[in-house]
Amino acid sequence: MKEIKHFAWDASHLSEIDSIWINGSEDMETIIDMATQSLHHFGFAFLRNLCLDDKESTAARLTLLGENLGSIVSQSPRGELVEDVCDFSDVEAEDKRGYRSAGELTPHSDPSTLIALHCLQPAMTGGESYLVNVRSIHDHIAATDQTLLEELYKPFPHWRVEGSHGIAQAGPYETERPVFCENNGRVSCVYYRPFIELSAQTQQIELSETQVAALDLFDHFSRSDELALRTTLQKGETIIVHNRSVLHARTGYQDWPNAQDRRHLLRLWIDAPERFPVHPQHELGDLFA
Ligand SMILES: [Fe+2]
Repeated sequence: MKEIKHFAWDASHLSEIDSIWINGSEDMETIIDMATQSLHHFGFAFLRNLCLDDKESTAARLTLLGENLGSIVSQSPRGELVEDVCDFSDVEAEDKRGYRSAGELTPHSDPSTLIALHCLQPAMTGGESYLVNVRSIHDHIAATDQTLLEELYKPFPHWRVEGSHGIAQAGPYETERPVFCENNGRVSCVYYRPFIELSAQTQQIELSETQVAALDLFDHFSRSDELALRTTLQKGETIIVHNRSVLHARTGYQDWPNAQDRRHLLRLWIDAPERFPVHPQHELGDLFA
């Protein structure tokens, strides 16, 4: 497949981006082709009518989509391939992972190459998803402060979540990893600031003033309304995000009064290094293998 140029979109391109919904009722080969092109160009793909109504057939259709894009990988030591994204904070006090609560999630990348989210039930209010283009964050930082941009290409501490690579204990990685990498002119990003800070803290490393300033500038642009593409997923809508090209976030939300009506998404993590190659330092592979 020929290289498709990545489009450095921001919020002002919303009208153009609105017209790119993919019809999910097409045959799988056509859907994969269109989704791949959209992922190369925008870093995301929006699909409607991909799935049937009941949860089991929806999960099966999502699984087929994921298997055609790459390899579906587990999202926790529990090993689920299709994960429920729901507010479980009332029944699972032990689970600290943000996607199992109703709170806000700030812009970050998940570890896998791709994340697919399918909406079974939106929230009563809130729960807006927003996407931010890595290339746009990068170029705004470049225009503001070249030294801080260069800092983000240097290694930062990072964190190994529990269960990764067959080990039971969470902890800091031995090697460090840059926030930005470049491969064939394409910028990629791995970003979740709490893990950078947790890793530094655990190793008793103090981040330098320049590192903190670089992360602050990154956060400033990643949370800027001028860059974010905002959408609230409706029932039956699916979004696929290339984690190295686009960060995702979610506003907090309020659920419907009945527990069976609570906001409910299905999520896949897909490893696809051949289809979407990035710099080796940003190939995270199967985290829970
Ligand atoms: Fe996430």
